Formats: sequence, C-alpha cells, structure tokens
Amino acid sequence: MFESLIARPTDAIMALMAMANADTNPNKIDLGVGVYKTEDGATPIMRAVKQASGLNLTEEITKSYVSTIGNADFRKHMVELIFGSDYPALTDGRIAAAQATGGSGALRLGAELIASSGLDPVVWVPTPTWANHTPLIGSVGMTIKQYPYYNKTTLGVDFDDMLTCLEQEAKPGDVIVLHGCCHNPSGADLSKEEWDRLAPFMRDNELVPFIDLAYFGLGNGIEDDTYGLRLMGQTCPELIMAASCSKNFALYKERVGLVAAITGSADQAALVQGQFGALQRRLTSMPPDHGAALVARILGDAQLRSVWSEELDEMRNRMKSLRAQLSGALRVQGAEAMADAITAQNGMFSMLPLSIEQIEKLRTDHSVYIMNSGRMNIAGANKSNIPLLADAILKVL
Ligand SMILES: Cc1ncc(COP(=O)(O)O)c(C=O)c1O
Repeated sequence: MFESLIARPTDAIMALMAMANADTNPNKIDLGVGVYKTEDGATPIMRAVKQASGLNLTEEITKSYVSTIGNADFRKHMVELIFGSDYPALTDGRIAAAQATGGSGALRLGAELIASSGLDPVVWVPTPTWANHTPLIGSVGMTIKQYPYYNKTTLGVDFDDMLTCLEQEAKPGDVIVLHGCCHNPSGADLSKEEWDRLAPFMRDNELVPFIDLAYFGLGNGIEDDTYGLRLMGQTCPELIMAASCSKNFALYKERVGLVAAITGSADQAALVQGQFGALQRRLTSMPPDHGAALVARILGDAQLRSVWSEELDEMRNRMKSLRAQLSGALRVQGAEAMADAITAQNGMFSMLPLSIEQIEKLRTDHSVYIMNSGRMNIAGANKSNIPLLADAILKVL
C-alpha cells in the first residue's frame, strides 16, 4: 500500500527552522516560526498558566471524557471574552460554540460546517493568507478562490481592489475568510473605517464572514482586536469564527481553540452546536481538555485573569516597542516606506518587500532568517540585535 504514496514537500516553516537551528553564528536572528519570544529568545509558559496548572494538578479529580464540544466553562468564558458578555447575539442565545483542537481545529470545524450545508459556496481567502488556510479549508472539498488584500508596493491593504473583486466575482452565499486582527503574514489589518464599510458590503452582497481570530489581544488589545468581528456579527445575519489560544495564552502545544457561529435564532444555534459536536466526533471524537481547562480557570478567576491580562499587555507592548525600534533604525538609514509600514502593522508579523535573492542573502551573509515570502516574526528580534537586523535589511536592499 505504502509503495503508491508520493513524498510530500517539507513544510516551508519547518525547513526554515532547521536552517536557523543549524546556523552556528552566535548572533543569528531567527524571525521564522510564528511563536512569541521574550528578549532572551524564550517562549515561556505564561505566569497565569503556571498558576492555573498548579491548581489544576491538585484539584482535578478525573481524566474521564468531557464532550464532543469540549469544556463548557471554557466555551462560556471564551465566547464572553471574544464577543463581550452583553453582546446581543449572545444574550439572545444565537451563538453556537465548540471547543476545538487549536485554531486549526476550529478552522477545520468551521469549514466542515459550511460543507455540511450542502450549498457548495466558494470560499474566498485574502492574497496572501496564512499558508495553512487553503489546505485546512480546501481539503473539506470546497472551492477556494483568492481576493486581493496586501499590496507589496504600498505595504498596506488594497481595500478598494478587495471590494471590487468581491463585488464582481463573489456570489451570494459565498464565504469570505477574514483575519480578525494581526494579519498573517503581512501584519496589515483593516482599519476601523474599513471594517465599517466592509460589514454592510458583506450584508448587502449576502456574503458570509468566516473570521480567523488567531492573535486577538496581541494587536491593540482584546476590544480593538475584536472590533471587526463584533461589528460583522451585528451587521450580517450569519457569521463563523475560529479563535486560537495558542498565541495569546502561549498554549501552543496544548491545542486550544474555539469555533463559534452567529445564527438567526436560538433554535438554529442549538442545531449548529449539535452539528459541531457531530462533526468533531467524526473527525477526532473530542478536543483535548488540559489547555482548555487552564483557560477556563484563568478567565473564571479574577486574580488569574488580571495576571494573564497584564502579561498579554507586556507581550503586545514588547512587540510594539521592537517595531518602533526597527522602524527608527531603518528610517535613519533611509527606507521610509518600510519604516512606516512596520509601525503601522500589528501583531507578530510584517512582510518585508524583498526578493527571494535578497532573503537568501539575509540568511547566507547575515544569519537573519525570514520566510521566503518576506514574512518576519518581529518577536524573534530583541533590543540588542535590532541595529544588526536593520543593517542587514538595508545591506541586502
Ligand atoms: C492566521 C492563523 N490562523 C490559525 C492559526 C492556527 O493556530 P493553532 O496553532 O492554534 O492551530 C495560525 C497559527 O499560526 C495562524 O497564524
């Protein structure tokens, strides 16, 4: 049987990680993988998570199965965190939600839900988008198309081109994947004014938003980072959302995520919730509980929640400060557009306007590792290597 299998290409990010790990230069700068790092290059367990783990260890009394839609406290707290506890669709009981295996599992469940409708919509993703969107969503069997999003010359969002494309080419019922905040790979987000225009546009063109919220809290704080999602959910009759706790709780390997849908009525929400359970049962039966139980503890306890929130602020502020420093260093030496874009963008990523030759030169001549697309994870830099990084970028330019 195995003889008929063909070799798969190595995952680009794994290949880059291997390259950076093999580099013996003590001053190497690894801006590849999308995990948060501290000044000394570590990805530590958050303080609130450590405390919650300790409590869990003494208080947990069973490892028995939980549910196909996961931990109930986790779902409740996460939905309230993301939408706000007085959100009309929530108080009306119109939100269905299920715990999922990371943001990836949430995206997959969302895609499975869409496919289960039998309506066969086209799913539109931005250009560029997170490399795993197409495999995760497309392997459900739906057609994926791309709409223009990031302009590599202006280093901002091509909002008018995006609307024109969707207006001319998307059909009523089509699904539009949007990054709620901290767009991966570009860091270029829609402004509030653009969300304000996009929401009625989506409603009027009968398009269904599918919002990926992998980095909320790390852009401009929870409220700002959920602005577009909340607005869209109040404007469009239906919405699907996939959130991750990998980055904002640093629970990467615990695989914690949430899929949710805003529906037309409480009855419909119950039906969708049942679908989520049945779909998850078919895929992996149940999501893992450990990480979700920690999130539920943190969000349900005022003291732990404030520790978490402080640490989230620290992470976000560190990335903003690195952006400001890099921008300053690039501006001094004259690359204004890039310098402006780096501070205007949000979250971990920016996409540098470099050719593949320049990116390879960064690796070979300067031991600076960014993805072939030009995506760099700003959290991989630190105060002391920013001048080196800026110098390397300017040299390859
Ligand atoms: C845009 C985006 N969506 C979803 C995910 C999935 O996150 P998780 O690791 O929780 O599956 C990621 C992870 O990098 C991401 O960048």
